[in-house]
Amino acid sequence: MIEFRGVSKYYGDFRALDNLSFTVEEGKVCVLIGPSGCGKSTTLRLINRMIEPSSGEILVDGRNVRTVRSEKLRRGVGYVIQNVGLLPHMTVEQNVSIVPRLLGWDDRKMKDRSDELLDLVGLAPDQYRSKYPHQLSGGEAQRIGVARALAANPPILLMDEPFGAVDPLNRETLQGEFTSIQRKLKKTVIFVTHDLDEAIRVADTVVLMQSGRIVQHDTPERLLAQPKNQFARDFVGSDRALKRLSRFIVHDYMHAPSMLRARERLSSSEIADRMKQRYFWVVDENGFLRGWTDLKESLPDEEVRGYMTQIKPMEVGITEFASMRDALSRMMGQGIKEVPVLDSKWRLVGAVTLHDVEAITEQGDLAQ
Ligand SMILES: Nc1ncnc2c1ncn2[C@@H]1O[C@H](COP(=O)(O)OP(=O)(O)O)[C@@H](O)[C@H]1O
Ligand SMILES: [Mg+2]
Repeated sequence: MIEFRGVSKYYGDFRALDNLSFTVEEGKVCVLIGPSGCGKSTTLRLINRMIEPSSGEILVDGRNVRTVRSEKLRRGVGYVIQNVGLLPHMTVEQNVSIVPRLLGWDDRKMKDRSDELLDLVGLAPDQYRSKYPHQLSGGEAQRIGVARALAANPPILLMDEPFGAVDPLNRETLQGEFTSIQRKLKKTVIFVTHDLDEAIRVADTVVLMQSGRIVQHDTPERLLAQPKNQFARDFVGSDRALKRLSRFIVHDYMHAPSMLRARERLSSSEIADRMKQRYFWVVDENGFLRGWTDLKESLPDEEVRGYMTQIKPMEVGITEFASMRDALSRMMGQGIKEVPVLDSKWRLVGAVTLHDVEAITEQGDLAQ
């Protein structure tokens, strides 16, 4: 647990933080959000003592961080920043092993840990461990940054705009991956961003800041449904009902797709049975999505491929880590009521429908 008690920070006469008090529960993700310069990074840096408060105290598991030795803090707190700060002349494995090496781990243990973490962040160890930072894409480098922060298995993770420098598509993927890693590891995380969509996506609680003060500390749902004042209302914007959909992950709502295999031959009774369904996604023998078809009355006894409409899977489908808001965007962009859900190899694994989206929007109080 992380607790801020009346923390202020001055730079000369300038008050960067004004009497900040808030608590982050163990195993939860707290997102600090607010306009540039409102004090997010300053708040984060106080926790691992890159800077010291002018007044007030910060407690980690009930202990004032001032009393904790810096090497112990370093072990207990992983830190991820924008542009990662990977050391250019070190391999991926060496970068990931920086803290374990400081802690005196032996080579075997460091290597195993590095491989385990590369797996966790979705990078094949055989392919990546010997690469140098300049051989990585922005998204890959960010994943290494996360792996490095997790290396010594710290209970706390501080993330300062970790995906800020990554393009929007990759950013969404990274947010989804982060959420699924966090579900497994349950770190206590403080995550800084100025991007509301990102906050809604990853947060258990959100601290909205303005000029060094807390405006509202709430769940994303409540921040969206009941912004406390005009600043908060302006910050969350008028499309907050849609934004709230970002809180819901496709994985939790998808169901089995109506699916046919290309080249599949159906008997007339099978056809009659399936006619109850209006359309089908068509996959090939390996499960890759190839197109869709609607079964017409005069269904010929022929290969499914013959009457399928081809589609580009990546334009129509989404991954199971996408949000229901992404799913809705797909539906509106493509004019479809059902979105196919694909795994990382573009195989069809499920589907979500407009009905699923409506079920979510109806259950929340979004009247205001
Ligand atoms: N070392 C410093 N010296 C003087 N002012 C600083 C220093 N670091 C941050 N500030 C000021 O404190 C305020 C908060 O900064 P910061 O926490 O980095 O904001 P954010 O991360 O929310 O964009 C800003 O106005 C910034 O200019
Ligand atoms: Mg900052």
